[in-house]
Amino acid sequence: MSAHTESRTEPSPGAWLFEAGIPDPATFPTEDVARLTADVLRDEPDAALQYGMGPQAPRVQGYEGLRGSIAGRLAARDGRSVDRDQVVVTSGAVQALTLTFAAYLGPGDVIAVEAPTWNRVLAWIQHRGARAVPVPVDGDGMRLDVLEQHLAACRDAGRPLAAVYAIATFNTPTGVSLSTERRRRLVELAAEWGFLLIEDNVYAELRYDGERLPSMFGQDRAGRVLQLDSLSKVVAPGLRIGWAAGPPEIVDRLVGVRADLGVSQLLARVMDRYLREGLLDPHIAEVTTLYRRKRDVAAAALREHCGDRVRFGVPEGGMFLWVELDAAVDPAGVIARAADAGVSVRAGERFFGDGGGRRHFRLAYSYVPEAELERGIAALGAAIAGSASTTNGGGRT
Ligand SMILES: Cc1ncc(COP(=O)(O)O)c(C=O)c1O
Repeated sequence: MSAHTESRTEPSPGAWLFEAGIPDPATFPTEDVARLTADVLRDEPDAALQYGMGPQAPRVQGYEGLRGSIAGRLAARDGRSVDRDQVVVTSGAVQALTLTFAAYLGPGDVIAVEAPTWNRVLAWIQHRGARAVPVPVDGDGMRLDVLEQHLAACRDAGRPLAAVYAIATFNTPTGVSLSTERRRRLVELAAEWGFLLIEDNVYAELRYDGERLPSMFGQDRAGRVLQLDSLSKVVAPGLRIGWAAGPPEIVDRLVGVRADLGVSQLLARVMDRYLREGLLDPHIAEVTTLYRRKRDVAAAALREHCGDRVRFGVPEGGMFLWVELDAAVDPAGVIARAADAGVSVRAGERFFGDGGGRRHFRLAYSYVPEAELERGIAALGAAIAGSASTTNGGGRT
C-alpha cells in the first residue's frame, strides 16, 4: 500500500469530477424540454421525425426556424444583423469547429491558437495535417504583438496564416478574456491579412461579474469572422445543438463539406420554441447564479485547503480555475494521488502543444454538486500536500 492510499477519503461515486467542463445536471430545464417536445410532436410530427434536408438536398444547413431564432438572438446580443442563411445548425460547437477545419485547413496550413487552448482543438488541427502556432496569453488574452510576428513570419515563409482560433471570452483553461481593445485590433488584423478569425463563444454567456465584452463577430465588417456557439454550456450538452454564424461564403463552405444529414429535427424544433418563448435568458440568469456561487466556493476551498502551495486567479465567468502549483510540488504526483482519492483534474500540459503548462492543472467547478465542492477540494488539497517535497519545510518555498 502506498503512503497516499492510507489517508484515502472515500468519495461519493463520481462526485469529484473536476476534470471536464460539464454542466451541473441540476440546471437542466427538463420540464420545459418535456413540454415543448410534446408540443412539437402534437403540432408537427411528420417534419419533426423526418430527415431535414429540404429542397436543397443534399445541402444540410439545419431547421430554418431555429436558424431564424439564432439570427434574432445574434442581432440582439451581438448587434450584428444576419440572415438565417448565415447560420448553420451543427451537432454542438464541436461540429461547427471540425467543419471549419475541414473547409479551411489542409496539410501544411498554419493556424494560430491561444497558448493554452482547449486540448481537443490541438488534436483536430493535427488530424488535418495542419500546424498550430501557439500564441501566449496574458491577462488581456492572446498577445497580438506575438501574433503579428507570426503573421509576418508565415508570409515570409510563403505560407500565409490561414486562420486564428480564439476562445475570446473565458478561455479554457485559463478563464481569461481578450480585452476590448485587442478584440478590435484582432478583427482589424483579420481584415488586413485576410485570415479567417474563428471566435469560439461557448462560454461567453456564463458571466458572473464585470461587463459583457463586445463579440468580434459583432465588429466584423470585412467578412472574416466566424462565430461558433452552442446551447451545451448554457442549457444542456446532450441536446447537441450548436451553430456557426458568419459571412455567407464562409458558411457555405462549411455546409459544402458537411457529410451528415443534420442534427435532430425534433430537438431543433424543441429548442427553436424554447428560444422563441424567451426561456433562454431567464435560464441563463439562474445558471449563472449557481455557477457564480460554485466558483466562489471552489476558490475559497482552494485557498483554505491548498494554501500557498497553489496560485490562481478568479475569472469573471466560465467553468474553470487554472491553478499553478508551487515549485516544491510534484504535478504528476498530484494527479495520481488525487485520482486515488477519487478526484480528477486535467493536467496543464494537455492545453499546450509545446510542453508548457507542466506546473498547472485545470479545475472545472461546474459539474461537482455544490454540497460536494469543498470535500472534493479538501481531498485535492491532501493530494497536493502529499506531493510536496518536505526538504524545505513542508514544500513551501
Ligand atoms: C472551447 C470549447 N468549445 C467548444 C466546446 C464543445 O461544445 P459543444 O458541446 O457545443 O460541442 C467545448 C466543450 O468542452 C469547449 O471547451
